[in-house]
Amino acid sequence: MNHITTVAIVGLGSRGKDAYAQALKAMPDKARITAIADTDPAKVREVAQAFSVPVDRCFDSAEALLAQDKLADVLIICTQDRPHVPHAIPALEKGYDILMEKPISPDLQQCRALLETAHRTGRKVVVCHVLRYSPFYRRIKAVLDGGVLGELQAIQGIENVTYWHQVHSFVRGNWRNSETTSPMFLAKCCHDMDLMVWLTGRNCVKVSSFGSLGHFTPDHAPKGAAKRCLDGCHAKANCPYDAEKIYITNPQTGIAHGKDDWPCNILALYPTMETIRQAIETGPYGRCVYFCDNNVVDHQVVNLEMEGGLTVNFTMCAFTADGGRTTKSMGTHGSMIADMSRNTIEVRPFDGEITLYDFNLKKERMTGHAGGDTVLMEEFLDYIQGKTPDGITSLDASMESHFICMAAEESRVHGGMCVEMEQIRKA
Ligand SMILES: NC(=O)c1ccc[n+]([C@@H]2O[C@H](COP(=O)([O-])OP(=O)(O)OC[C@H]3O[C@@H](n4cnc5c(N)ncnc54)[C@H](O)[C@@H]3O)[C@@H](O)[C@H]2O)c1
Repeated sequence: MNHITTVAIVGLGSRGKDAYAQALKAMPDKARITAIADTDPAKVREVAQAFSVPVDRCFDSAEALLAQDKLADVLIICTQDRPHVPHAIPALEKGYDILMEKPISPDLQQCRALLETAHRTGRKVVVCHVLRYSPFYRRIKAVLDGGVLGELQAIQGIENVTYWHQVHSFVRGNWRNSETTSPMFLAKCCHDMDLMVWLTGRNCVKVSSFGSLGHFTPDHAPKGAAKRCLDGCHAKANCPYDAEKIYITNPQTGIAHGKDDWPCNILALYPTMETIRQAIETGPYGRCVYFCDNNVVDHQVVNLEMEGGLTVNFTMCAFTADGGRTTKSMGTHGSMIADMSRNTIEVRPFDGEITLYDFNLKKERMTGHAGGDTVLMEEFLDYIQGKTPDGITSLDASMESHFICMAAEESRVHGGMCVEMEQIRKA
């Protein structure tokens, strides 16, 4: 019989409670949650009940949990971006192996300190670059490695953030200001840069980038805009960012259409018409998008030169109706278009038959980052239990995407100057 891995989780929000605790629920023969921490007592109560975590193993902060002797085999870190490393280092010193949400840290020195501690303690650290684990991206990797496209020359990628996701997370929400969280490209696209390194099998040599906060600023506020959407705003009718539309009436996201999961469950732990309306009336998610304390970009383009001259051009943009990523890979013998919003991959050899992979046929594997959340958890537990799953990624490998994102930000704030990756790796 398999050893049952014991798991502690710190941060019981969208990722800790709704993604990973749920993934663990489906794997009772592999793992059991034995300790939890969150600063919100209601979240602690909910997870404690759902997973029968004893009261003396429930804590009101990660710091309080980490002040105890080691309480589990592994620690899953799902707190906000900046405390990841301050939570991870003491955990490694106590002997936990770690599954850690991305980004590792927006601070290069913190990234290095974590790497040093992981090497010294010999503990395992896996960063949640979930897309690597999805069947969708694994198919893209298999096509590229299979050689049907010939020699890969260029990739063009787009991260379609979606207009309402942008304002939810990056204008009104937790990732709106790089002083308290991360620069947008690190927060949103460290996944994509991780994919570019993995898919091409090459390291990045040079980076340049342009981008800005082009729209969500006071000077773009329409005439008659109020500071809060429910405070008699006269611009409401023509505003797609109106909080009432996003959280109440939008068929994709609104509580009036029974959408009580993300993003509504970020406004209220138990979303109902009443709790959502109250959150919009009084909380941060009811603020006018033109009058928030946000500073992160809403569009950015990043160019990479990879080893051997392969080029990558990647755009992250708020202003899209659909979400997901679109990736076009171009080789000497063919090209491939992968579209996450349609769940399809089309492979077109220049002198052969077109192959279409349609993941709609396996819909259940496409939830949670195209199925990546669940596979990541399965493979992480296998790794902890002594196996070496093919896809598992080392902390050293995950650092590379962070170096690229930091180089992109360095370039962007310096007007698009070319940044040599060696400078960032050694900084
Ligand atoms: N892998 C991915 O694709 C992916 C997707 C979304 C978010 N993330 C990352 O995951 C992390 C968590 O994001 P989220 O969406 O779950 O955020 P969230 O705000 O929903 O959850 C964070 C939780 O941490 C709790 N918390 C804050 N301080 C704490 C402390 N000192 N001790 C214990 N708990 C504390 C909060 O109360 C909250 O419940 C972020 O770093 C984010 O960037 C990763």
